[in-house]
Amino acid sequence: MISRRQALAGGGLLIVGVLPIRRGRAATQQPGATEKELIFRSTEPRNAEPKLSDLIQSWITPTKFFYIRSHAPNPRIDPQQYRLKIDGMVDRVTELRLEDLQRYPERTITATLTCAGNRRAEFNQQAPVGGVQWEAGAIGNATWTGVALADVLNDVGVADQARHVWLEGLDAVPHGEGTIPFGASIPIEKAIDADDGLGALLVTKMNGEPLSEDHGFPLRAIVPGYIGARSVKWLGRVSLAEHPSPNHYVAEAYKVVTDTSPLAWAEAGPIYRYPINAAIGKPEAGMTVPAGPLEVAGYVLPSGKRDSRVREVWVSADGGRGWVMAELVGEELPYCWRLWRAEVEVTPETKELICRASDSTGEFMPPRIAWNAKGYLQNSWFRLPINVQ
Ligand code: MTE
Repeated sequence: MISRRQALAGGGLLIVGVLPIRRGRAATQQPGATEKELIFRSTEPRNAEPKLSDLIQSWITPTKFFYIRSHAPNPRIDPQQYRLKIDGMVDRVTELRLEDLQRYPERTITATLTCAGNRRAEFNQQAPVGGVQWEAGAIGNATWTGVALADVLNDVGVADQARHVWLEGLDAVPHGEGTIPFGASIPIEKAIDADDGLGALLVTKMNGEPLSEDHGFPLRAIVPGYIGARSVKWLGRVSLAEHPSPNHYVAEAYKVVTDTSPLAWAEAGPIYRYPINAAIGKPEAGMTVPAGPLEVAGYVLPSGKRDSRVREVWVSADGGRGWVMAELVGEELPYCWRLWRAEVEVTPETKELICRASDSTGEFMPPRIAWNAKGYLQNSWFRLPINVQ
């Protein structure tokens, strides 16, 4: 068995898909999406999702239709002054400028990002739930360009005892009397799972353009397969430790609990991977359609394991008695969603369309899930009300 230090030193890492390093024009902050493109659930901080009919138009989500989830106002970061601090259980405490990242091989991956609160609003049918009232648009699929976290950790040297990588943002989130940075934590095994970027990536570009301010300019983490909260934006610090980060967004928030007592928080573990999920984007909710054949389309995301692939998506127009298997369209890549379409027969009795899905790891969307206090991981059968004439 190889030790972690050996693994990081290259023993367990295979250099594949290395793209040439491009030293392009200096990155600048881009303006974010507007109310024309996204439905804003709040503007300060900026929290917005696309209409599902826009979202399912393309396998790669254009940045203007990509959801924004921020806990605090966007920090304004001068790229010249910017430094990424790397500390904790490392051989060399380091500060990297953006230019320093160009020392490492550039990697481009495609990965779906989804908020743990996606579809939160549906929990209100069981009992009221607080937080941003997301419908099913807090998800998007983009290309991400940057350097593998594994390459950087390999360079700075990680102590064998280190078990977790803490990621910390440069934003200031109101908390108690003061403010805290948004923080995440990932097991070191995930950080070094692959150095092709599919373990964890430090990203400077989204869909081929410098990150916009909304999406974490100038540098963010992308952790494929994990809930969006682990992909820290405006990344300021990477720290190695024996235990998960004590940051509020790891130690308390982003846990599935039915009450928010200190005991419930303490007993629940942090959410890492996202579960399988799917939604219907066509027709739109509440639409009136004629009786007869109806084209239905949507997205499906397999559970967040590298080898997890969508197996089947099914659609019902009669309350779950009969099901039609959907056709999957577009590319199939690790940690990426797929789009799908199906044709179902609707009658004046049809009050809703339902979709459900399964993946190759045995995960499936259940008919119902238990309510939880923060409204996370809603992945029960997706139900879309329609009127048929
Ligand atoms: N990083 C920082 N620094 N601050 C934040 O509020 N929100 C997280 C994550 N990274 C957040 C953050 C959450 S909850 C999600 S779902 C994703 O960013 C959303 O990324 P996006 O806004 O680029 O879609």
